[in-house]
Amino acid sequence: MNWTRKDLLGLEELTKEEIEFIISTAESFKEVQTREIKKVPALRGKTVVNLFYEPSTRTRVSFEVAAKRLSADVINIATETSSVKKGETLIDTGLNIQALKADVIVVRHNYSGAAVMLAKHLDISIVNAGDGWHEHPTQALLDILTLKEKLGRVSGLNVSIVGDIAHSRVARSNIWGLTKLGANVTVCAPAMLVPPAIEKLGVRVAKNIDDALRQADAVNVLRMQFERDDENAFPKQLDYFKNFGITKERLLKAKKNIVVMHPGPLNRGIEMSSDVADGPNSVILEQVTNGIAVRMAVLFLVAQARDNSDQEKL
Ligand code: CP
Repeated sequence: MNWTRKDLLGLEELTKEEIEFIISTAESFKEVQTREIKKVPALRGKTVVNLFYEPSTRTRVSFEVAAKRLSADVINIATETSSVKKGETLIDTGLNIQALKADVIVVRHNYSGAAVMLAKHLDISIVNAGDGWHEHPTQALLDILTLKEKLGRVSGLNVSIVGDIAHSRVARSNIWGLTKLGANVTVCAPAMLVPPAIEKLGVRVAKNIDDALRQADAVNVLRMQFERDDENAFPKQLDYFKNFGITKERLLKAKKNIVVMHPGPLNRGIEMSSDVADGPNSVILEQVTNGIAVRMAVLFLVAQARDNSDQEKL
């Protein structure tokens, strides 16, 4: 297919074919990581700016590694030490990065819609690295790539997403991506963390954790975002683990080869026991590795689409 989007803002706006195209492009970039020199010249001369307004380990490093493997120059802006601290708006920061002739901004922001807003105001490519509760598209894409590798397909799989669904951009992007690719998605969370009318997105709400695990081919376990518990309404950590934690005992009642995923950062003993996190069903670190190929694919496709559209304007 001919990729024409200069931005990646979320999976809601992508077609099944576009999602499959990113995944197949990522699959071809995986080979680069097996080489002695893990680099291709695809983005030589391009500049990628990581603009992160929220903490990140995996996503920020993964985008940096991905850009460097494509031979791009990479600049990381720590908002704590930038002019953001002097009151500069997101749009003004973006316009200045554009004026500095960057080609791609990878943005993480606590405001849902931040990436969409930047994309509306800037001509350069914008990649959403997580915006508020809205979307985290590259996380869902790397989850999908990992599932496909482990189980050979995505269509028809039963995938359960367990944890803080209400506040989770990872859940939302996974729901969009998985349902478009034909997976059966179940969500499971304490009642106050299940968004109203979530079934309208084409998912089933499990009665309890055993119900969520029983038929699951894979379980994607989300981080409990206790820092968002402004009203002190979430279950306490031990209660959460007792009622929703993924343990060896609970997995005994699930499919033997159930794939256990977590986007990270993982709170051991809250969302999952350590023997599961480090056990044979866990693919948590493979997800991290797959993030590089997915982000290489995304950076390559959006930069190429922008080049193509610039040429058409000439
Ligand atoms: N999965 C994820 O987004 O992790 P980071 O917050 O470390 O980037």
